[in-house]
Parts: sequence; structure tokens; C-alpha cells
Amino acid sequence: MAGRIDRDGPAAATGHPRASHRTAGSSWSGRRPRAARVIFLAGAGERGNAGALRGWATMCVGVGQDAPGWRPGAGPSASVTRKQEQNMSRFTGKVAVVTGAAQGIGAAIAARLAEEGAAVAVVDLTAERAQATVDAITAKGGLARAYGCDVAVKPEVEAVFERVAAELNGLHILVNNAGITRDNLFFKMSAEDWSSVLTVNLTSAFNCSQAAQKVMVAQRYGKIVSLSSRSALGNRGQANYAAAKAGIQGLTATLAIELGPYNINVNAVAPGYIATPMTAATAERVGSSAEEHQKAAAERTPLRRVGTPEEVASVVAFLASEDASYVSGQTIYINGGAR
Ligand SMILES: NC(=O)c1ccc[n+]([C@@H]2O[C@H](COP(=O)([O-])OP(=O)(O)OC[C@H]3O[C@@H](n4cnc5c(N)ncnc54)[C@H](O)[C@@H]3O)[C@@H](O)[C@H]2O)c1
Repeated sequence: MAGRIDRDGPAAATGHPRASHRTAGSSWSGRRPRAARVIFLAGAGERGNAGALRGWATMCVGVGQDAPGWRPGAGPSASVTRKQEQNMSRFTGKVAVVTGAAQGIGAAIAARLAEEGAAVAVVDLTAERAQATVDAITAKGGLARAYGCDVAVKPEVEAVFERVAAELNGLHILVNNAGITRDNLFFKMSAEDWSSVLTVNLTSAFNCSQAAQKVMVAQRYGKIVSLSSRSALGNRGQANYAAAKAGIQGLTATLAIELGPYNINVNAVAPGYIATPMTAATAERVGSSAEEHQKAAAERTPLRRVGTPEEVASVVAFLASEDASYVSGQTIYINGGAR
């Protein structure tokens, strides 16, 4: 069954693919899975590698989720050895997809989920862009695979999610992170900039969540976390972005109602100023250096500093974990106390 990584193979596999496999349009790497949870990062995978990935997923299952009736989130089986147990963490056995994970916040989220045992599908516009994140994860012994996909284009999203579910044999966590800005004062904002920001930041979450829920509903388990923004409350020059990020909050609250009966938690995070290539580009656009721009933002923030991608990733990981099992429909602001 799609989404259940414990059904298709022997309980204990004897090996796993150590080498990196790369083909046009997709690539994946795996070194030393530390536990049995599989995280699905969007963007990687050729059919030709499906067998190797399935073998890897099966091997991961063998580490700790071999008990009959195990389901994602149910915890390790009794057959887990002490050493294996020590290596397990919150996402052992989970597959996660993180969109827009080639850099910035998405890359930090992918790294955090992988660090805690997930197998991550790293999705970005091209698999080549996503590969650096995959390499960083695998260098630390984690598992990840790069996938190329424009999340604003529904047929591309449907195709890549089908590939991920087939190749990793599951999908448990979706992080809707991909986003862009096209800032301008409202009276000067072009219809194109309005539309592209709404499509990439909001319609993409519709596309990916709809594709993911097919697997999640069937398996009665899922975690969806989407990136909103403090700008949802209103921000000069960001009518398009604010509308999209407020839309994420409405979508989140509604999906929590509709998908909750299927044991799917749906939440959002709303970061304030986080130092990433996105904010560096904003600084450049307004004629400032990244450092000056950050300093000004820090002065407006009660904690007197800007945030880091890792500080967003830790909250996303919390919401994607069983630590937040009774949290759904919420938007958590990560903004150093700023308003
Ligand atoms: N940096 C901040 O201060 C901040 C604050 C609040 C919210 N956010 C949100 O966090 C998320 C990540 O922001 P970031 O600062 O890391 O941005 P970033 O620009 O550094 O990274 C965004 C990534 O998304 C990818 N992407 C863009 N369009 C895509 C598409 N159509 N399909 C697939 N991938 C696509 C880009 O290639 C890039 O790798 C965004 O949703 C952003 O709106 C950021």
C-alpha cells in the first residue's frame, strides 16, 4: 500500500545502497540510514532507481518497523536492538517531502528532518539545484534524494508525488516551503507579479497538499506543515505576498478540519525576518547590504536579532513530530516577539 513502508519487503534487509545514483532529472544518495523512518523530500527519482530506493526503504523498515501491524507514528517494534534504539529519533521510518529545499529555510528543514531519521525528498525547480542539499545530508550519514519540480504546475506536482510514493514506498510528512517575493507598492504592482506570487506561494500548497493527501488519507497518517509569514498580517510593498501567506493560514485551518478525521495534522509556521538568500535579495533590491538590512530588522525585534533557518526548522520538526500530535489547524509565529 502506498505510504506504508513496512509491507513490501522482508523485515530485515542485509544491506543498503551506499553509492550515489544520478540520472538526468533526478538523483538520490544514501549512506548510512540511522533509523527506520523515511522522509519524503520532493524532487528526486528516476524509474530506473526505483528498485534501489525500494530496497533502501525496505532496509530502513527492517531496522525497527518490522512488527506486524506497525503503522507510521506507532513507534519502534520490540525487535529493535538497544543500539538501533539509540540511533532512532522522531522521524525514524518516515518519508518527508520538502519543497523549495535547495537553499535557505527549506534546506535547513530538510537537514533537520534527515538528522532525526527521516528519508527526505528534496524538491526544487530542478534536481540539480536540490543536489547540494542532498549532498550535505548524505555527508552527515542521512538519506535524501533530489527531485526537480515546479510546484506551481499541478501536473508536475502530481507526477513527482507519484514517483516519490512509488520510489520511497511512502509519504508521511509534507513541508510546503517553496516561495518567492515580487515586492512593489500596490499602485505599481503588475498583474503578473500578483499572480506569480499567489501561484508559487499559495497554489503550490494546494497542489502539493492535494497530491499528498491521497497517500496520507489511505494510510490514516500524515503531517502537513506550510510556510506562512509574519507578512500575512500586512506589510508595505507586499500586497501579493501578504495575501498569499494569509491564504496559507486559511488553507491550513480548513485542511485541518477536513483531514483531521484521517489522522492528518495540518499546521503552518509564520516566520519573521530570517536571514536567507530571499532576504539578501530584498536587501539588494532596496539598495542595502544584507548586514545593514538585518541590523535594521534586529532593532525592530524584541529579541534584538534576526532569525536563522535552523530556528524555523526546529519548529517545523516539532509540528511534524508526535510531540505535536494534538496540534492541528494552527499557525505558529517564529518572529522573535515582533509584531
Ligand atoms: N526568509 C524569510 O525571512 C522568510 C520569512 C517568512 C516566510 N518565509 C517563507 O519561507 C519559505 C522559504 O524562504 P527562504 O527565505 O528560504 O527563500 P529562498 O528564496 O532562499 O528559497 C526558496 C526556494 O524555493 C525554490 N522555489 C521557488 N519557486 C519554486 C517553484 N515554483 N517550485 C519549486 N521550488 C521553488 C527556490 O528555487 C529556492 O530554492 C518561503 O515560503 C518564504 O516565503 C521566509
